[in-house]
Amino acid sequence: MNTLVVGAQWGDEGKGKVVDVLTETADVVVRCQGGDNAGHTVEVDGQTFVLHLIPSGILWPGKCCVIGNGLVLDPVALVSEIRSIQSRGIETEGRILVSEGAHLVLPHHRVLDVHSEKAKGPGKIGTTGRGIGPAYEDKVSRRGLRAVDLLRADEFQRKLGQRIEEANRLLHRLGLEPLDAGGITEEYLAAAQFLRPVITNTVLWLHDALAKGKSLLFESAQGTFLDVDFGTYPYVTACNTTAGAALVGSGVSPKEIHHVVGCVKAYTTRVGEGPMPTESSELTALLHAMGREFGSTTRRARRCGWFDSVLVRYARLINGFDRLAVTNLDNLDCLDEIPVCVAYNLEGRRLEYPPTALEDWWNCQPVYRVFPGWKEPTGQARSFRQLPKPARDYLLGLAELVGAPLGLVSVGAGREKSFWVE
Ligand code: IMO
Ligand code: MG
Repeated sequence: MNTLVVGAQWGDEGKGKVVDVLTETADVVVRCQGGDNAGHTVEVDGQTFVLHLIPSGILWPGKCCVIGNGLVLDPVALVSEIRSIQSRGIETEGRILVSEGAHLVLPHHRVLDVHSEKAKGPGKIGTTGRGIGPAYEDKVSRRGLRAVDLLRADEFQRKLGQRIEEANRLLHRLGLEPLDAGGITEEYLAAAQFLRPVITNTVLWLHDALAKGKSLLFESAQGTFLDVDFGTYPYVTACNTTAGAALVGSGVSPKEIHHVVGCVKAYTTRVGEGPMPTESSELTALLHAMGREFGSTTRRARRCGWFDSVLVRYARLINGFDRLAVTNLDNLDCLDEIPVCVAYNLEGRRLEYPPTALEDWWNCQPVYRVFPGWKEPTGQARSFRQLPKPARDYLLGLAELVGAPLGLVSVGAGREKSFWVE
């Protein structure tokens, strides 16, 4: 059985945690898109790991992890991430594979990402500054370098030199400092040497695994409303983040995906700019005061708001999820009442699905239905039945509003704090 985990909000839905739980019954975990803008936090035995490029499945001994062709990856960042988890006792030998087709994030991509944000001023997107947009731009404009290029040292050095030279001309025009070609080349060649043994044709490797009856778990990054097609454009990331991206980002056919799990928080968060109809200063203040909701990649404070079923209903159509995984329920433990957005009011019209135009997004007023809170800690619950009745009603209410059955619930960071709902 092959399963896809996809974010149904604006990222940070707890996909790492959900993938970690599902990895137990999978053989291979595959990342298919995005880059190290992702930050997937998993807590195992009291130890917290934040993964950016490596699939969360790495934390289960023996499971294989594939970095698919749909990613953009900085080889230097990948090497440092591999070294960092190795230093924490995770055996990676023979467990990480990188697609030859994955595009490379180069140093000027990061510089240009940060620069273009500065240039936009108040209209900035609020990117992670990881060079993701410029790297995908190079991919689409057909001048990108790919992981396969790392396999031929001399040729790679020549191509990298050429790209840096071009980048320096552009940086000069923008009044920015030139890049140090020598230092970069040395760093990238060292990363290339480290990664060479793990770069392969992962399409063939994955199909071979399928033929052997192995089960695959696809780990998406970001969320449906950061998708470049379906999200709150232009306040989105630079790639598709929805179910289809798992296919084009791995070379696996749609016929091979048996289950899709839509991952949501029990409320909504967003990091970066852009519309967020249910944003609430009250909930934001409460969660920040609890020390919650600071980004795992950039440490930025996340914007928080009430659960928005308009978003997730749309995400269910786009991704076809047959199970909902709801995380961070425990963060709502102290509330008397919990509003849930059931529709938007756009200039007198009731919308059950989100609009497309940015101007309309800004003007959508949430229509709330208020659920009673449960006012007791849920962090100790280990099954759905152990949750207080109002918490169960809240979760079932969300599932009904969204139109997908409840699958997994999580009440905290540790692996043991997620459980299935029969
Ligand atoms: P995970 O996988 C939350 C957001 C950024 C910004 C926008 C564009 O952990 O859910 P980018 O650097 O991608 O060009 O920034 O997308 N963003 C994320 N927000 N979780 C993520 O990943 C994100 N990856 C990108 O904050 O608003
Ligand atoms: Mg994250």
